Amino acid sequence: MLNFGPFSAPVHTLRMTARIIDGKAHAAALRAELKSSVAALAARGVQPGLAVIMVGDNPASRTYVRNKVRACEEAGVLSQLHEFPADADESALLARVRELNADPRIDGILVQLPLPPHIDEARVLAAVVPEKDVDGFHVHSAGALLIGAPHFVPCTPAGIMYLLEKEAIPIAGRHAVVVGRSNIVGKPMALLLLQKDATVTICHSKTPELAAHTRRADILVAAVGRTNLIGADMVKPGACVIDVGTNRQPDGKLRGDVDFEAVRAVAGSITPVPGGVGPMTVAMLVANTLHAAQQRKQY
Ligand code: GUN
Repeated sequence: MLNFGPFSAPVHTLRMTARIIDGKAHAAALRAELKSSVAALAARGVQPGLAVIMVGDNPASRTYVRNKVRACEEAGVLSQLHEFPADADESALLARVRELNADPRIDGILVQLPLPPHIDEARVLAAVVPEKDVDGFHVHSAGALLIGAPHFVPCTPAGIMYLLEKEAIPIAGRHAVVVGRSNIVGKPMALLLLQKDATVTICHSKTPELAAHTRRADILVAAVGRTNLIGADMVKPGACVIDVGTNRQPDGKLRGDVDFEAVRAVAGSITPVPGGVGPMTVAMLVANTLHAAQQRKQY
């Protein structure tokens, strides 16, 4: 019998587990870089400014908004929170957006979604001038991304592209599957991956045989909002799995769209929830606000 000596591990104990992509650490590093860029701009007399508009009291939105405002303040970006009651008139909201469009202290305007049903979301988003559209939700930004000349890219997919780059995940020529087709994540995500020469499949709630698609993904992005939708049998061994889900459980804990414990035994790399994509979204908002200030002030 061959003897490999005291350092050889018995083969049956070796189990592949995915590399955990630490979004919190990547976001902290990016925020530190942004902070010094903001300080450099401040030294020339320019402080970037973000205005966040929030309507009503959705608890999830309140948490997101608090994180965004705090991240801006920590980076040295001026931030303003404009709160409206849930029954606010659309006209009051539009009037505030117009004021902020004209306010020289404000470089970025973010309207936290969702808005109450009596307000026309598209009309409010369209009222933001494209130069201040740091969320990338205006049709101008969406169209620019579609034709491959991005202006402002929505923060969550931009943050995911940042993670893929930093983690040296190959994209060109790979098969990316995006599950979810929202304007905020799914559609822009698919366009960004396409722009980096991935072959992209977009799946959604009406896609039959979802697993047949996801199993072919080298990069799998789950952005649906259904806890544990993606199980281990739906993932190709070695794939990079990005979990955008933020599903609050009855016990108050946050869970993703991916069954993390099961999938990490199959995937090559995986983002956790919390601590994966979420912190990158916030860091990218700071980045977009800084870029808006640099562009508007011609720096
Ligand atoms: N609601 C959920 N995600 C987002 C986001 O990234 N931006 C805004 N404005 N609203 C959201």
